[in-house]
Amino acid sequence: MKLEAVPLSGAMGAEVCGADLRQIDDNTFAAIHAILLKYGMIFFRDQDITPSQQLNLARRWGEPHFHPYMPGLPDHPEIIEVVKNPEDNHTFGGNWHTDQMFTPTPAMGTMLYAKEVPATGGDTMFGNLYLAYESLSNGMKAAIGDLRTFNLYDKKKGRSAEMRGKLKQPEKPAEPAEHPLVRPHGETGRPVLYISYERITRHIVGMTEEESLPLLDYLRRHSTRPEFTCRLRWTPGTLAFWDNRCVQHMALNDYHGQRRVMHRITLRGERTS
Ligand code: SIN
Repeated sequence: MKLEAVPLSGAMGAEVCGADLRQIDDNTFAAIHAILLKYGMIFFRDQDITPSQQLNLARRWGEPHFHPYMPGLPDHPEIIEVVKNPEDNHTFGGNWHTDQMFTPTPAMGTMLYAKEVPATGGDTMFGNLYLAYESLSNGMKAAIGDLRTFNLYDKKKGRSAEMRGKLKQPEKPAEPAEHPLVRPHGETGRPVLYISYERITRHIVGMTEEESLPLLDYLRRHSTRPEFTCRLRWTPGTLAFWDNRCVQHMALNDYHGQRRVMHRITLRGERTS
């Protein structure tokens, strides 16, 4: 296969053209992974794949990570069906976040496959966390370089009854996780500003929530500056994969009265130091 990467914005993201995801050999996968490391989020249009083929492709990157609260498909428990029905108000993933940062081993990457998309709306935003870190002043870099964050998923806190109704009872409650606020990427070694929204990244370790809030608020606003982002318009059969070690994302909730169905697999990541 002859692959071509077409950048989506100045900050990140690329369409990969020329791949049939049902049949990827080792060399093609190595080329796709190199494009992922360069652009943080890659996507492929017009792919017609079954859940088993999606799972086989995802396994090229590693072992699936089971979400403690989201149920999987009956025949493929590794795949979460992310559904928003016309009558629903809430959208899954509607805040800037990196996946499963509330666990000690946050997801390495996430694969999302569009099954049914609204006529308009339902795009996903992505943000480059390398750029978020690199664009801080030297003073801020020095101030936050050794800080760690406390992260926790609380099924009830700030979640609507509609969303809580879609969550399953976990085998054991989520344990809090501490992560470096400046995290080196496991493969490239480049530092990223590693942060999530306020219901996950609660406070700086050693500070109260109140004390941490001004700094975390600033860093959250900074990390989502438009010039660090790209926006993916989904079409049926679009498959995206993003690197949670250097990318945050947010699903846009702007398609009320329409239906959107996505198949999502997350890959187990490494323990942060
Ligand atoms: C997610 O946060 O993984 C969902 C993203 C989306 O549905 O666009």
